[in-house]
Amino acid sequence: MSTLAVAADPIVIKFSHVTAQDTPKGKGADKFKELAEKYTNGAVKVEVYPNSTLYKDKEELEALQLGAVQMLAPSLSKFGPLGVREFEVFDLPYIFDGYGALHKVTKGPVGQQMLGLLEPRGIKGLAYWDNGFKALSANSPIRKPEDLRGKKLRIQSSKVLEEQMREVRALPQAMAFSEVYQALQTGVVDGTENTFSNYFTQKFHEVQKHMTVSDHGYIGYAAITNKKFWDGLPADVRSQLEKAMAEATDYANKIAKEENEQMLEAIRASGKTEVHVLSEAERKAFIKALVPVHKKMASRVGADTIQAIYEATGFDPDKL
Ligand code: LMR
Repeated sequence: MSTLAVAADPIVIKFSHVTAQDTPKGKGADKFKELAEKYTNGAVKVEVYPNSTLYKDKEELEALQLGAVQMLAPSLSKFGPLGVREFEVFDLPYIFDGYGALHKVTKGPVGQQMLGLLEPRGIKGLAYWDNGFKALSANSPIRKPEDLRGKKLRIQSSKVLEEQMREVRALPQAMAFSEVYQALQTGVVDGTENTFSNYFTQKFHEVQKHMTVSDHGYIGYAAITNKKFWDGLPADVRSQLEKAMAEATDYANKIAKEENEQMLEAIRASGKTEVHVLSEAERKAFIKALVPVHKKMASRVGADTIQAIYEATGFDPDKL
């Protein structure tokens, strides 16, 4: 129990995010609220705004930098457009062979150094939160890279994701997360990529006839705060919030894999979309088609950064 006194006016932390409450990120944010309020004995009040109710993708980071919102957990793809291109490494296709490889980065020195790169932008990186690995979807089956040719596919705004789609001659269309369902439903785009938890909670699968479990890329987050706000907190409050964040992070990262597996089952059970799991040979064809994106994007993302990830995870593009 904290010894912090209950302040007359609690410190308010607005925590905005774009996914549903019932997702790894949504549950992580709610857990942080619960623990932060408990450990500070009510001296801090956390208001969580899920589902883009406060800000959409692009506006989120601006709002944080301006101090209009104190906490976010944007996808790692969001930091490239902010000018911190090193984070684009997380968008490279097939760079992480599962959560184990990924955690060597996000729970290791490379990941910590990368969070530090946000500070000159007025952002304090607190932790990495997992979501999971991406599936592809469209209204026709996707069994091989060629099946994506000529398709308009929604991506997050990211130069690496753009290149990834171009590599298979698809037409990338960057769009805010909150607009994807309608774009899929009305045929503004033919398909997309995302994690199962995002597909299911946004109902994307209901307006896509085919989905392919390709695990071709990763979506995860950095829990971040406005640096000035954070540094200005009373030290005892900040240390309780750090504790709350550490525990919320463990929780979010513990549930992410399982939540995504459950949501894949829920998608299957819905019967709204046909789910195809790539065979080993099919997966190899996707890897062969997409890994060349690493070299193509090296001058943008930074060859050193890519190399640091390869070394941390043991990934070797020459041994594919
Ligand atoms: C997306 O825009 O597809 C994702 O970044 C949404 C999210 O935050 O998981």
